[in-house]
Amino acid sequence: MNTDIEWEKWGKKDPYFAVLIDKKFRNDNITSDIKSEFFESGRKHISHVLQVCRDYLNPDFSPKKALDFGCGTGRLVIPLAEVADHAVGMDISDSMLKEAQKNCEEYSVKNVSLLKSDDDLSALDGRRFDFIHSYIVLQHIPVARGRRIFTNLLNHLEDSGIGVIHFTYAETIYSENYGASPSGIGQLFKILKKLLRRSFLFRHLEPEMQMNSYNVNELLFLMQKVGIRNFHVEFKDHAGALGIFVYFMKPQKV
Ligand SMILES: C[S@@+](CC[C@H](N)C(=O)[O-])C[C@H]1O[C@@H](n2cnc3c(N)ncnc32)[C@H](O)[C@@H]1O
Repeated sequence: MNTDIEWEKWGKKDPYFAVLIDKKFRNDNITSDIKSEFFESGRKHISHVLQVCRDYLNPDFSPKKALDFGCGTGRLVIPLAEVADHAVGMDISDSMLKEAQKNCEEYSVKNVSLLKSDDDLSALDGRRFDFIHSYIVLQHIPVARGRRIFTNLLNHLEDSGIGVIHFTYAETIYSENYGASPSGIGQLFKILKKLLRRSFLFRHLEPEMQMNSYNVNELLFLMQKVGIRNFHVEFKDHAGALGIFVYFMKPQKV
């Protein structure tokens, strides 16, 4: 399954619901009050994240050049732009980016650039940031691609810059297997589900929203490789998809 195609379908069909799975954010229910609630959730998130950065990594931290990877409709990049000099939002879906652009105009936010993403982050053209953030995004990207994107995000972080990245690593439905999808029957079930979705009868259903669990060892390896010496972590649980939200600082090169 090509997750990029599925996300473009979500962006066209129901972009706010696809970001925060709650029926009040379905297209048919979106009013200006509901939209304000949506963005307020983003403002709260960013304010919390920056406070944690100050508490654990740098008491004087205030981002200047910020990147939000997988920005969707702008829920987090717009509040980020309110506190940074400039914020970049990247996303794989043109429709999501279009909606984010509309929201920047609606809220008169002028210091945001919205860029189409790829796994090499080529649209960044070598630009580096003092703050890189990504929330509830990598979970939807197949692990091999996600690892590559994470490596590239680390390379776009300035020395002394702060990264705050969310990953999923286990699912509560597999608790008998320590959260990991069992390879036998679990895999068979996944394949059957995929075949059913592809069949003619199921074509009218929602686009797929793939969930992936990352191997934390591999993530730590990639972090240590660029010299990160320590990190802070928050546990997350989105309907049984268990996650880690990792806060770290890239050290100065010696
Ligand atoms: C659940 S939404 C989260 C949006 C935003 N981070 C937020 O919390 O408001 C996931 C976003 O990731 C984007 N996305 C999915 N795969 C991606 C990829 N390979 N590269 C960049 N963005 C991707 C989707 O298009 C979607 O906008």
